[in-house]
Amino acid sequence: MQSRAPAAVDKILVLDFGGQSTQLIGRRIRQLGIFSEIVPGDARLEELPLQGTRGIVLSGSGYSVYEDGAPEVDRRIYEQGIPILGICYGFQRISKDLGGSVESLGRKEFGRARVTVDGRSALFGRVPGSSFVSWMSHGDSVTSAPAGFDVIGKSESGLPAAFASESRRMWGVQFHPEVSHCEYGMEILEAFAVDICSARREWSMQRFLSDERELLVKRIGKRRVVLLISGGVDSCVVAALLLRSLPPDQIHLMYIDTGLMRQDESAEVRESLSTLGARHVHVIDASRRFYAGLAGVTDPEQKRRIIGDLFIRVQQEEIAKLGVEDSFLAQGTLYTDLIESGRGVGKKAHVIKTHHNVRSPLVEAVRERGMVVEPLSSLYKDEVRALGLELGLPKSIVGRHPFPGPGLAVRILGEVTPEKCDLLRRADQLFISELRARGLYDKIWQAFCVLLPIRSVGVSGDMRRYGHVLALRAVASLDAITADVYSMSMSDLLEISSLITNRIPEIGRVVYDLSSKPPATIEWE
Ligand code: XMP
Repeated sequence: MQSRAPAAVDKILVLDFGGQSTQLIGRRIRQLGIFSEIVPGDARLEELPLQGTRGIVLSGSGYSVYEDGAPEVDRRIYEQGIPILGICYGFQRISKDLGGSVESLGRKEFGRARVTVDGRSALFGRVPGSSFVSWMSHGDSVTSAPAGFDVIGKSESGLPAAFASESRRMWGVQFHPEVSHCEYGMEILEAFAVDICSARREWSMQRFLSDERELLVKRIGKRRVVLLISGGVDSCVVAALLLRSLPPDQIHLMYIDTGLMRQDESAEVRESLSTLGARHVHVIDASRRFYAGLAGVTDPEQKRRIIGDLFIRVQQEEIAKLGVEDSFLAQGTLYTDLIESGRGVGKKAHVIKTHHNVRSPLVEAVRERGMVVEPLSSLYKDEVRALGLELGLPKSIVGRHPFPGPGLAVRILGEVTPEKCDLLRRADQLFISELRARGLYDKIWQAFCVLLPIRSVGVSGDMRRYGHVLALRAVASLDAITADVYSMSMSDLLEISSLITNRIPEIGRVVYDLSSKPPATIEWE
């Protein structure tokens, strides 16, 4: 298994059994300044990148330990003397594997739950007091700990909520310390990583930057590298990183305007790239081809496929035109993209929407030739933002909300037309500039407008109008895997709504989306 760890850095390995919050475990540990790496939970001992590993976390899972196909851990991992922390399924896995008992008591526990813990245990050494509100999400329960393990935490029903065997260097918790709703969750992870594992805090964006620059120079040498810029944060950070590491003449930045971009996006991208010192910026206006391809199409997945295929075709043609086929291809792929697409790390996640950035056949062909560089592929989004700042990118770019590859097409329900794109662009710009003016933009993970495929009756002056319906969406999230509705004040909403209907007469009605993810997704399509 290829490790993404920088050489000679202490790390915590996270064995992924497919739990919803596995990525969060990795991220939280990195927030402590300690490198973490996610690997498949059922990996064999010899496959694990153990160099520098100071501790191992066994993640949660959607499986019950008794279910057919439940992921197993290579039990030799238990015997290595490396401290292990089992979380939820990981806790139950340890219990079952080492002779404790796990039972289904016929009730699921989900959400906040108070636990009482033994403060003398190293795992709870940073928790003040002896009880706190944890976060649970489980069907099965550990009903007795394996022999040699002490119960160091109990739930309100008296069941083991945490156990430990100091001599075997193993700990386990039923709750999820990585979830932000868990009180003292960070302190518990810190106690494990720092106090128990003695992992050194060697992970920072300065360190990453100096290592990565050296790697890029070594790998790319004097060859050329083509980077597709999308207008989003990730590709801008890759551009800045390349420009900081290699001579600008080697770097070709390509930006395909699909006609599905936000207002003024193309101009802003061009300007920020030239500020970064880019010499070769190729802006390709392909909007007509995209509009033609999307004409008459209403099915969301079909739209995504058309856009993805067309994007790849245009990209291929343009790269051929540049005559740089033998160049490296740089991508802004993040760690979460890899985990979600199941490429090389962790368990394969369920594909809910086709994200085309990871699966393009062109990219795969270039990858086979060993010519793809993905310098952000070990980073989480918040780390990419920190790296961007480290590279001197302005806050306005680094703090930009994420924008999906298929752009406005997935925010126009029903057929996409140039007129609807223009209308949505105007509304979206108004919404976003109002959020900025009200100091809300940076508090929100992602905000945007959605144009609905229905009309509704309204009045304008004495006239009856049949206007468009616009939905406003604003969510709070840490990583887009789950998201909560951003709780905007009613007065902000009312003012923004009247501003939109006053300034854009085609819009007759504005609604606010009150759906969290799950069950909804962030985008509407
Ligand atoms: P959903 O809608 O699945 O979105 O909750 C999660 C995050 O991913 C973004 N998104 C995409 N990004 N290509 C991308 O690069 C896509 O096809 C795509 N679809 C959704 C979305 O904006 C949110 O941040």
